[in-house]
Amino acid sequence: MADVVDRVFDTVADAAPEIRAGLPERRAKRDDENVSGDTQLEADVWADDLLFDRTDAIEGVNWYASEERDAVVTVGDADEGYAVALDPLDGSSNVKSNNPCGTVVGVYDQPLPAPGSSLVAAGFVLYGPTTTMVVARNDEVREYLVDDDGRTDLGLVELPADPTVYGFGGRVPEWSEDFEAFVRNVEDDLKLRYGGAMIADVNQVLVYGGAFGYPGLSSAPDGKLRAHFESMPMAYVVEAAGGSSSDGSGSLLDLEPTRLHERTPTFVGNDAVIEDLEAALPD
Ligand code: F6P
Ligand code: MN
Repeated sequence: MADVVDRVFDTVADAAPEIRAGLPERRAKRDDENVSGDTQLEADVWADDLLFDRTDAIEGVNWYASEERDAVVTVGDADEGYAVALDPLDGSSNVKSNNPCGTVVGVYDQPLPAPGSSLVAAGFVLYGPTTTMVVARNDEVREYLVDDDGRTDLGLVELPADPTVYGFGGRVPEWSEDFEAFVRNVEDDLKLRYGGAMIADVNQVLVYGGAFGYPGLSSAPDGKLRAHFESMPMAYVVEAAGGSSSDGSGSLLDLEPTRLHERTPTFVGNDAVIEDLEAALPD
């Protein structure tokens, strides 16, 4: 029998075509905000409910947490096991403009809040021109094509040695001077590609090399992205693919969030770009 982590990704892959097929009719906004203050789409809540119902049934998954829920839900009886943390529809504001979005998955071997070092696997589904799933586990990253028949292995993913693209979130006047100076240097060498869905922006870094980030802003010193649901899982993927991650001073996998919906400045990409970033920002 497949192990718990495999079953988590099989379950997400099974749900993906259904989520994708359900998006066109769920473009409307709800009147609600999630706990982080994002306006929820009907699609966000629907994808969360669907993934909760499926994940709930996996033996060995004892906690479910998502960006769309205030608190962790205990779904198993044992007091040890895996916690699955999901961003059910990352980049959901792209649904309206018909740009890519996706589902982020982090599997932790501790109840949340949990440190980045307790991730045992992480990955994401990307609803782009094709539906793909990327899974990082045991220092290896694989990409799969996902369709109604399940997932087909497309092979190993390794960050290209030479960086090509970059994308950083937030309005430039809200960036720190140090960060802006760093970006001006990046612009000399790399090409801007920013699409507004972290998953898609990180996936193009995995394919072309480069860097993606969402820095701290003057109005939001910890930036926008959430450690458990977005930053640490994506860091796990990029580091396993041979790249680096940072919160501005060290690896995102060294973070020890104390709150479920904690945010953190987030940067992932080729080692050299992340090294330059850390050198540019104050300690
Ligand atoms: O989940 C948050 C998110 O949608 C990310 O996917 C994305 O990187 C970011 O917000 C985009 O934010 P902004 O609209 O500020 O560029
Ligand atoms: Mn998101």
